Amino acid sequence: MDAITLLKADHKTVEQLFRKFEKAGDHALAHKRKLVDEMVRELSIHAAIEEQVFYPAVRARSEDLSPDVLRSLEEHHVVKWVLSELDTLPAESERFDAKVHVLMENVRAHVLEEEQYLFPEVKKAFKPQELRQVGESLELAKKAAPTHPHPAAPDTPPGNLLTGAVAAMMDMGRDALRTARRKAVTQVRKSAPRPLKKPLESLMSMDSAGDSLH
Ligand SMILES: [Fe+2]
Repeated sequence: MDAITLLKADHKTVEQLFRKFEKAGDHALAHKRKLVDEMVRELSIHAAIEEQVFYPAVRARSEDLSPDVLRSLEEHHVVKWVLSELDTLPAESERFDAKVHVLMENVRAHVLEEEQYLFPEVKKAFKPQELRQVGESLELAKKAAPTHPHPAAPDTPPGNLLTGAVAAMMDMGRDALRTARRKAVTQVRKSAPRPLKKPLESLMSMDSAGDSLH
């Protein structure tokens, strides 16, 4: 797959998550938390592979596109800070929906700029075969990319290549721990005895049957 097709497919995946979030009801807290978990994962991986592979390749090929890449990096930087807050923010928080909306606005503006301006320029600067090679590198980078945002980490080579590998390993452990914890909580909830629906009424009926509390 060529680089542009791969990155556009990522954008589509994220946009679908945004639309699901917008359709979710105000009280669908667990559903919205799950959607945000997916946004954090998808956007963290996507930002990392663009920063590790795509942007350096574009800058190396065209100095004219360097200011656009730098702007994209700054946009990623802002998005990663918002993602890092959303990563642990409970869906019950009064800021949760507002923060997701700010995230969506920022990502949508960034995607629009890339798809309308940067990608067409990149297509002019690279041969189709070269774009396929960059695409292969992006696919490889995806397999070892961090799954959580690291806004304070370097975002250009060689710093991001070094810290990215460590961050990805730490994130894998964090994801495994989070999944195990959620499974345990679900299991405890399932095995817990169901509370009496109307404890007061049941006490009253015991009293009237002569088996009173006196
Ligand atoms: Fe991007």
